[in-house]
Amino acid sequence: MEYVIEAENLSKTYGSFFWKQKKPALNKLNLQIPSGIIYGFLGPNGAGKTTTIKLMMDLIRPKEGKILVFGMEPSEAEVKKQVGFLPDYPAFSSYLTANEFLGICAKLSQIPALERASRIEEVLDTVKMTKHAGSKLGGFSRGMLQRIGIAQAIINRPKLLVLDEPLTGLDPHGRQELMEIISDQKRKGTNVFFSSHILYDVEKICDHVGILNEGELLCSGPIESLLSETGSRVHVKHGENEVAKLLMEDATGSIKLPDGSWDFVFPAKSEIKGKIDEMQLRHPGSFTMTPSREKLEDFFFRKIENSRKIM
Ligand SMILES: Nc1ncnc2c1ncn2[C@@H]1O[C@H](COP(=O)(O)OP(=O)(O)OP(=O)(O)O)[C@@H](O)[C@H]1O
Ligand SMILES: [Mg+2]
Repeated sequence: MEYVIEAENLSKTYGSFFWKQKKPALNKLNLQIPSGIIYGFLGPNGAGKTTTIKLMMDLIRPKEGKILVFGMEPSEAEVKKQVGFLPDYPAFSSYLTANEFLGICAKLSQIPALERASRIEEVLDTVKMTKHAGSKLGGFSRGMLQRIGIAQAIINRPKLLVLDEPLTGLDPHGRQELMEIISDQKRKGTNVFFSSHILYDVEKICDHVGILNEGELLCSGPIESLLSETGSRVHVKHGENEVAKLLMEDATGSIKLPDGSWDFVFPAKSEIKGKIDEMQLRHPGSFTMTPSREKLEDFFFRKIENSRKIM
């Protein structure tokens, strides 16, 4: 299987021959990211997220180990063609219009001159900035600039989009808009890797997450396999009062909804799960059950807390 990103014992220590960091910024990172997903890279300040991204983008070199993008070294020209990147602190020339700025980006991405105008139109439409094409970047809000940042990152129609903290500093509405753009990229077949501190948003749009702390990867994988089950939620259809009455005995929470249906919450106990499974066989179609899981935020703090105890 070829991974979109694969790191093997990847380590980085900053400093010169005379001065070296005591602790590596990144310590033996092993990571395998499959294709077709949005990957959320989490960790507190200084964890090593930007360092990993810089190694992936060939902006710095590792001390040890390696990182491959689509099975290739990040320095290969083919990788640069297939990857779009938005850094954590992008600098925009305030006197350029969105059109002019994207024109320069298209040129740098070696998009043929005849195609440039239509490509700019395409990305401005994707990030919903068409009506601001002729306005100067200096007058844009942070949310608008982030959208232009994404536009430049997708101008070469990349197979992988790498975003370093794209949601930071945006208001809830701006974050929502940007998340829709990111999810849209996945639907179009682009792989997405982004770092973030905003766990609530990450939980909403990411398929896989990884947590980094002090240069060490604490976990990585599909969200639903990382978050432990805290119980189950059962929704009983309107009119199934007999079933609702039977389920109520073991529920830790119940609510009757205005349409006459019921919602129940059950703890994660195997005997209760067994009872519910049996009920489902006896009354097929009368209710649906979904596992309820801990919040990503609780999982994140639990992981960081545990790693501090071990250190
Ligand atoms: N150019 C540099 N020179 C020296 N040390 C650096 C450099 N860049 C990063 N570091 C150090 O490496 C460690 C990891 O930093 P990095 O920027 O990768 O963290 P991060 O997870 O991106 O943090 P943040 O959430 O604040 O962006 C930190 O201790 C940081 O101080
Ligand atoms: Mg960073």
